[in-house]
Amino acid sequence: MNTAVDRDLVALVSGGNRGIGLAVCEGFARRGVQVYMGCRDLAEGKAAVERRRLTGVIPIQLDVCSESSMLAAIDTIATVHGHLDLLVNNAGMSVGVRDKPSEEHMAQARATFEVNFFGPWRLSQYALPLMRARAQAHIINVSSGHGSSTKIEGNNLAYRSSKSALNVLTQAMAIELADSGIRVNCMTPGWVRTKLGGVAAPRSPEEGAETILWLALDGGGETGKFYKDRTLFPW
Ligand SMILES: NC(=O)c1ccc[n+]([C@@H]2O[C@H](COP(=O)([O-])OP(=O)(O)OC[C@H]3O[C@@H](n4cnc5c(N)ncnc54)[C@H](OP(=O)(O)O)[C@@H]3O)[C@@H](O)[C@H]2O)c1
Repeated sequence: MNTAVDRDLVALVSGGNRGIGLAVCEGFARRGVQVYMGCRDLAEGKAAVERRRLTGVIPIQLDVCSESSMLAAIDTIATVHGHLDLLVNNAGMSVGVRDKPSEEHMAQARATFEVNFFGPWRLSQYALPLMRARAQAHIINVSSGHGSSTKIEGNNLAYRSSKSALNVLTQAMAIELADSGIRVNCMTPGWVRTKLGGVAAPRSPEEGAETILWLALDGGGETGKFYKDRTLFPW
């Protein structure tokens, strides 16, 4: 049984209205964290909070492809709290799973990079001043095994390469922030039963969220590293 955290932690989770993001919001809230559930459609977030009877979770409009949406969300947290301790860059998309690199549409590839790479990068930039307000903070990027160079196959290149880029972002930011007290990690949740993962996946969203909670609340891991199931995962 995990205990409540002893600091007044504030978290922002992108794509928090369903799937792994929702499980992270719920897990954080159970441990006493004040959670901002980022959702593109606020009504979806409110419905999720009501359905799960979540307390300590505030839905906030957040589209990681919109500069104004990201700025407004960060501004709200700045006004209310003046700090942000945990940023989970969870929002993601994967389309054209079977597409071959020789055939995949560039528009689809660019859209994937906007959500999976540029979104987390930009949101981290906007969040950093608020994260520097505290002695310790943590950015956790939800990557994928498909982002590992050890798992390359001849399909889904846009998704794979966007997650590989997210992994490089993780390492570069961790190096930049090494002396700041801000840790930066990426993790893969494994294959999880969500809209993205499909119904055949063996893991529940809660199982997918577990390593994120460990990194964020239990002091697990080392900055700049890639994890799966609380264990180092190959780049
Ligand atoms: N499921 C798996 O097997 C698996 C495996 C490896 C990695 N992952 C990673 O885990 C993360 C969560 O995925 P999931 O499986 O929980 O998928 P999911 O149930 O499909 O949820 C994806 C979430 O991302 C949000 N999103 C998409 N585009 C967005 C945007 N532009 N701005 C803000 N939010 C946006 C969605 O919002 P809407 O509801 O508005 O669409 C939704 O909340 C992703 O980064 C994914 O790549 C998943």
